[in-house]
Amino acid sequence: MRVGIIGMGWVGSSVAISTLHEGLARELWLHDRRPDLADGEAMDLAQGASFYPSADVRCAEIEEMRDCDVVVIAAGKGGRPEQSRLDLLRENASIVRDIATELRGGRATIVVVTNPVDVLTHVVWRASGLPPERVIGTGTMLDTARLRQMIGRELAIDPRSVHAHVLGEHGDSEVVAWSAANVGGVSLRSAPGWASERETAIAAEVRTAAYEIIRRKGATNHAIGLVTAHLLGSLLRDERRVLTASRVHDGSVGLGGEVALSLPVVVGREGATRVLSPSLDAKERAGLERSAEVLRAAIASL
Ligand code: 2OP
Repeated sequence: MRVGIIGMGWVGSSVAISTLHEGLARELWLHDRRPDLADGEAMDLAQGASFYPSADVRCAEIEEMRDCDVVVIAAGKGGRPEQSRLDLLRENASIVRDIATELRGGRATIVVVTNPVDVLTHVVWRASGLPPERVIGTGTMLDTARLRQMIGRELAIDPRSVHAHVLGEHGDSEVVAWSAANVGGVSLRSAPGWASERETAIAAEVRTAAYEIIRRKGATNHAIGLVTAHLLGSLLRDERRVLTASRVHDGSVGLGGEVALSLPVVVGREGATRVLSPSLDAKERAGLERSAEVLRAAIASL
């Protein structure tokens, strides 16, 4: 398997190390518009070869990456603590549009990580000419991981045993599907001591998690690196996991017109093919519709 990563900042380099540790790529190709940075990362990662499953790491041009199985786009500006993800839109849209145009005509499925990830998934889809299932944003996979970690912390349960999802925008309008959240088939809402105030507090902690980290260390990178490798694993190994990844949806999902956002999707070799329709209560459904509107307005503003 050949994986390309474009953008070797905090996020791209974390995606690279997580990909290597997971043994997902026999060949890992790196690109950055600062060639020395990509070269240095490739050298640094290659020198750790004794500690991950066999892989060749090297720099590559974007055009060469058309021949990868998957290309991850992690290029662009990260946010400052006072900036929402949508504030990054104009600058990053132009960066990822150029990259997607260069990848046009290739065989690679594209994974979008750059923020605002949902709007940029839409931009890359349009510019790449690929079908919607083959342009996948990490979307709310990271928010879902944060949610599970926080619920697990509250209940003293491994996050991997928490079944709960964040849907919609990877950003301020995201929606936690509390009504379906469960542990071992037992609804969270029937857990002793569970109350709506707890839901409100956890949802806020998930929503502001990135701002809190960026305020302290300037960026987020480790969790998104792990999330992206998890997504790549499902794609490259055809695992068909259900993930809250972002892709372009048409009107058939009942959220108005065309929009890219996260719903639970089945991810395998053919991409994010099957879209599931989770049962939501009226408040959650209204929140998801609002999130779709926010994202449509962002796309329209470009
Ligand atoms: C995150 O949520 C900033 O989108 C990035 O960590």
